[in-house]
Amino acid sequence: MERIGVLTSGGDSPGMNAAIRAAVRGGLYHGMEIFGVERGYEGLISGEIYRMDRRSVSDIIQRGGTILKTARSEAFMEDEGFSMALNMLDSFQIDGLIVIGGNGSLTGALKLADAGIKVIGLPGTIDNDLPFTDYTIGFDTAVNTVLGAVGNIRDTSHSHDRITIIEVMGRECGDIAIYAGLTGGAEIILIPEREADIQSICRRLVEGKNNGKRSSIIIKAEGVNMSTEELERSIRERTGLDAKMVILGYIQRGGSPTARDRMLASRLGYEAVDLLRSGAYNKAVGVRGGKTVSYDLSEAMRMKKTSVADLDVLADILSR
Ligand code: F6P
Repeated sequence: MERIGVLTSGGDSPGMNAAIRAAVRGGLYHGMEIFGVERGYEGLISGEIYRMDRRSVSDIIQRGGTILKTARSEAFMEDEGFSMALNMLDSFQIDGLIVIGGNGSLTGALKLADAGIKVIGLPGTIDNDLPFTDYTIGFDTAVNTVLGAVGNIRDTSHSHDRITIIEVMGRECGDIAIYAGLTGGAEIILIPEREADIQSICRRLVEGKNNGKRSSIIIKAEGVNMSTEELERSIRERTGLDAKMVILGYIQRGGSPTARDRMLASRLGYEAVDLLRSGAYNKAVGVRGGKTVSYDLSEAMRMKKTSVADLDVLADILSR
């Protein structure tokens, strides 16, 4: 294995740069040639590929985003685009490819693996929705960003005796909501894995008020079956309490990665090249119980995510 490509794909996440750095410098350390592919699979199709050296990844470990840029590529999932990507890998004589991204990106990596390309998938997404790893690169930073916002909102919410609904990212996975909700002391956490019940939400808020709570925080993941606007309106109408909503949006995807995310990214980025070097490929690399693990990519993509939903029960007990 001599010529390795690396790309980031899908939604960016803090720590992707640290993973690129580890893959590039780890690969160079082992005498490989490393090529950066820009804009994910889109750049693979159009040949936006350049050779990287140690200085290509200087001063990036602390930066959010991805120096390789990213994209969500529909063309790659179609026959024409896919075969152009294969041709490009062939033209650049790339023997192995490291893909850093979320669910869709690793599904793309599996498609390449099935076509005979040697790939390694790294979990890069703030959502923490990949079942083969306890944590994804970027999740910890996103949770801490949300936590900072919860703290600020709590101050003003308390001053105004108000209920604030904070919408966080997570279309199908409630991990950001649960981790930020539990650690931010939210009274109510709403996640896509559970149906939101307006009656019990309102009952909980009124009980809180009767028990002397002057303000409450609701953390709601974007994928919950009720829109945030509807939730705000229903709470006002049903309880007469002052409710306001805040959508945190893309602020959650940026920012300097935390130490945890830099550590995870550095370990997994290096592990990816080490696997390729030792002849292991078509793997997804993650972390379990603090240890680096790797699974066959197809097996990893078939795994079911263990829900952390029981943590919202704990959050409920602790926030009454
Ligand atoms: O990166 C994952 C994620 O942040 C999801 O939580 C969110 O729904 C989605 O990306 C939105 O990303 P975009 O608007 O870039 O498609």
